[in-house]
Amino acid sequence: MKVLILGSGGREHALAWKISRSAALTGLWVLPGSEGIAEYAESLQGDPESPGTVVESARRIGADLVVVGPEAPLAAGVVDALEANGIAAFGPRRDAARIESSKVYAKELMVEAGIPTAPFAVFSDAESALAHVAERTLPMVVKADGLAAGKGVTVARAREQAEDAVREAMIDGRFGEAGAQILVEDCLVGEELSLMAISDGEVVVPLQPARDYKALRDGDEGPNTGGMGCVSPVPGCGEDLVSRVCRDVLQPAVSAMARRGTPFRGLLYAGLMLTAEGPRVLEFNCRFGDPETQVVLPRMRSDLLPILAASAGMRDDLEDLGVKLEWSRDAAVCVVMASGGYPLSYETGFPIEGLDAVSPGGFVFHAGTARDDEGWITSGGRVLGVTGLGPSIEEARDTAYDAVGRIAFPGAHFRSDVAAF
Ligand SMILES: Nc1ncnc2c1ncn2[C@@H]1O[C@H](COP(=O)(O)OP(=O)(O)O)[C@@H](O)[C@H]1O
Ligand SMILES: [Mg+2]
Repeated sequence: MKVLILGSGGREHALAWKISRSAALTGLWVLPGSEGIAEYAESLQGDPESPGTVVESARRIGADLVVVGPEAPLAAGVVDALEANGIAAFGPRRDAARIESSKVYAKELMVEAGIPTAPFAVFSDAESALAHVAERTLPMVVKADGLAAGKGVTVARAREQAEDAVREAMIDGRFGEAGAQILVEDCLVGEELSLMAISDGEVVVPLQPARDYKALRDGDEGPNTGGMGCVSPVPGCGEDLVSRVCRDVLQPAVSAMARRGTPFRGLLYAGLMLTAEGPRVLEFNCRFGDPETQVVLPRMRSDLLPILAASAGMRDDLEDLGVKLEWSRDAAVCVVMASGGYPLSYETGFPIEGLDAVSPGGFVFHAGTARDDEGWITSGGRVLGVTGLGPSIEEARDTAYDAVGRIAFPGAHFRSDVAAF
């Protein structure tokens, strides 16, 4: 099978690594890719968010399957365009991708399907939103409806904070169209968990759960980021919890979307709060998590490609593949090394040292790197995702931090408490 991956980050590096090991693979390309991903896949130039470019690239290489990494190409209708041209794609069509690109859509779907989530209200004008915020009990959560690059959610402990969030989204237009509607919801208390699953529009096959570290600094201090680290498995979150989330969240969501005539194919990611009353959905994403992928795939022993192909409708045995899915007993811990200043402004172009000195059992996934004549340099906010594997979380953690300790670039920042339970 010839495969084209869309994207260029750490998630896509992990996908390329995993797919490159597939017995069914005959050729692997990536659009636009990176010099890190080039280890496993040939890079193609172009914009992965342009449906025309993607179709043309897939045709040129004779791709049998296109695997979409990030959400933006999905929301731009890349899968619709590929399917219209007879090319199989892993990922939802634009109408199904709304489960991530519109939080209001996701909430309404959850109500329809009886999926547990925080009570909420939806607003499309600032005046009624502000009137609501003036009365609702604190703390409360204000969310922009659309894609806001992880900046659209405010957990407000003071009324003023909630009012500011409403004004920023609805009056100042900070998120553009994405803030034209907002949600105000109850604040849930508990630990968070990410559960990713693969669906063909009917069946749901769960992957292993993971926990990500969103805040910039140790102890969950500082601003939210794209993710500063991740661990899988998660203590206390075993098979029982996975089955429960499949039964109460993932399967009902997939069934409701099928009933609506917008079946969900691809990766469905539930962001959960594990409350005293049970798991509650914070949000859905419609693609692999980053950095969740960098801990979940290294633990997967089964061949991923047939599963992606079944999700994309190239074969009809997703359920059987799901039953046989095998996982390593090893734990995985990923520590993200970021540029100084991230997630605000940061400089790039600094030389990265020590990439070759990483010990066995450690993977380095490139998120924001490039090469110059001398070697690797930084080129993004999140630079590297360093994953360690080991027979226990502690050992995986030691392996990851040992590798992080060998890698250096000016201004490098990472959390030191990833997977420290
Ligand atoms: N109802 C809620 N109660 C408590 N915390 C929440 C709630 N909704 C979101 N959060 C926090 O905000 C973060 C981001 O919210 P999320 O809905 O995942 O949006 P996004 O990932 O698009 O920014 C969550 O990971 C969680 O920490
Ligand atoms: Mg989230």
